[in-house]
Amino acid sequence: MSSPISLSRYLVEKQRIAGHIPAQLRLLLEVVARACKSISHAVNKGALGGVLGSAGSQNVQGEVQKKLDIIANEVLIDANEWGGHLAAMASEEMEAIHVVPNRYPKGEYLLLFDPLDGSSNIDVNVSIGTIFSVLKMPEGDRGVEEEDFLQPGSHQVAAGYCVYGPQTTLVLTVGDGVAMFTLDRELGSFVLTQDDLRIPDDTQEFAINMSNLRHWDAPVRRYIDECLAGKDGPRGKNFNMRWVASMVADVHRIMMRGGVFMYPWDKREPNKPGKLRLMYEANPMSWLIEQAGGAATNGRQRILDVQPQQLHERVSVILGSKNEVERVTRYHLDADAAS
Ligand code: AHG
Ligand code: MN
Ligand code: MN
Repeated sequence: MSSPISLSRYLVEKQRIAGHIPAQLRLLLEVVARACKSISHAVNKGALGGVLGSAGSQNVQGEVQKKLDIIANEVLIDANEWGGHLAAMASEEMEAIHVVPNRYPKGEYLLLFDPLDGSSNIDVNVSIGTIFSVLKMPEGDRGVEEEDFLQPGSHQVAAGYCVYGPQTTLVLTVGDGVAMFTLDRELGSFVLTQDDLRIPDDTQEFAINMSNLRHWDAPVRRYIDECLAGKDGPRGKNFNMRWVASMVADVHRIMMRGGVFMYPWDKREPNKPGKLRLMYEANPMSWLIEQAGGAATNGRQRILDVQPQQLHERVSVILGSKNEVERVTRYHLDADAAS
């Protein structure tokens, strides 16, 4: 049996053999993975490490911050600012961008993250995670500004997430498919456990927060109604439902066995396009899903083509098995055409 492939070796081979990633990007991904290991450690300590509960503060989105939201954010910043591979970072937990301090060399990449996804699950010992996206700094010899981050998801050069669940699993793309690594705690390293992940085109499983049903728009209701009608309905088959309420865990399940995930626009806050954030939740997840053969739209447009206007902007998200995402998108476009 051949020896296991570590994340380090995987990345070195991507750089050396495939010529696919520059050395600085390799370093960046190694550092992000190291930060995820450290977050995983804190998550695992739970009450013993004093990391549970609220931090007593709010983030820019007006959400109550948990202690682990803040710890994970600090771990990612501390790990990434001194290596010379980054120009700046942006996070769900920080209103403004974090430019690499002048005492450190600056690199050409921009890193965005949701340091701790699924905050409502922290204190109840359910899977949570970290989501990240890497962009290149636009050309030009000047200081970094927020506008430099406002690039569509199609410009990402790397994206990934780490799930802190029964296992700690890192899922990564640099644009040539999706690879999955599992943290070996004895070795202290991520080991490649599945390469070239593929999502089936069809599914009989959907993920949506059903408690919002009365607030949804007609196309989403139509889709879910048809799923719920089961074998005797227009779809002619029964559907199952899963909702972890941690996007990382719901997306990971879809990576493993297919499915469709939706957090659509709803009438609770009609002026917001959705709940999830475009730049550090929807974009990295959409690219990973596409790289695994799935699809991701906001109901009308490919998410990766959305031009961001603001760092923390929100978006409606429909992603997963291709044929289902296309169906939900078609229902939206049909409704638009009929109105
Ligand atoms: P975060 O913890 O980073 O704020 O993200 C939580 C998100 C996402 O992970 C999940 O899919 C969704 O919120 C759950 O929302 P509901 O509680 O409305 O179901
Ligand atoms: Mn999140
Ligand atoms: Mn978060």
